[in-house]
Amino acid sequence: MTKRPTLIVLHGANLDLLGERPAGHYGTITLRELEDAVTAEAARNGWDCSCYQTNHEGHFIEYLHQFRHADAILVNPGAWTHYSYAIRDALEIVSAPVAEVHLSDITSREVWRRRSVISEVVSLSISGKGLDGYLEAVRQLVAMRQGEDETHL
Ligand code: DQA
Repeated sequence: MTKRPTLIVLHGANLDLLGERPAGHYGTITLRELEDAVTAEAARNGWDCSCYQTNHEGHFIEYLHQFRHADAILVNPGAWTHYSYAIRDALEIVSAPVAEVHLSDITSREVWRRRSVISEVVSLSISGKGLDGYLEAVRQLVAMRQGEDETHL
């Protein structure tokens, strides 16, 4: 039997407190509920899922190093999205397809939040769709992997 592919989900700073953050931007979903929904969507597509969250930028980078050859990675780095060139550089090394997802619409918030320094080095970016954006990202990553596998047959 072939091993099921695994989706790695990485959350950055302050996302552990989803559910307590401004509901107008992030809704009321907790990180646990979000991870459970993403895991269920991955399972519907025949994938396993491993979720991590950290408030330490260096740990986030080390997760990216550790999982750089994973089947696919979904990241929401929180505020690091807007200024962390170190995370951008780490993503550049990753061979897995990466989806950048934000619950809120970062393009229509404060000026400093409108820029993502990682968007150029990821395969797809989705923002402003809440949990639905995560589920869409899972489906797109799965489709991307299937496309790649077919070209290597
Ligand atoms: C966020 C948007 C970021 O600007 C913010 O710092 C977050 C969450 C989002 O999911 O909408 O922590 O990435």
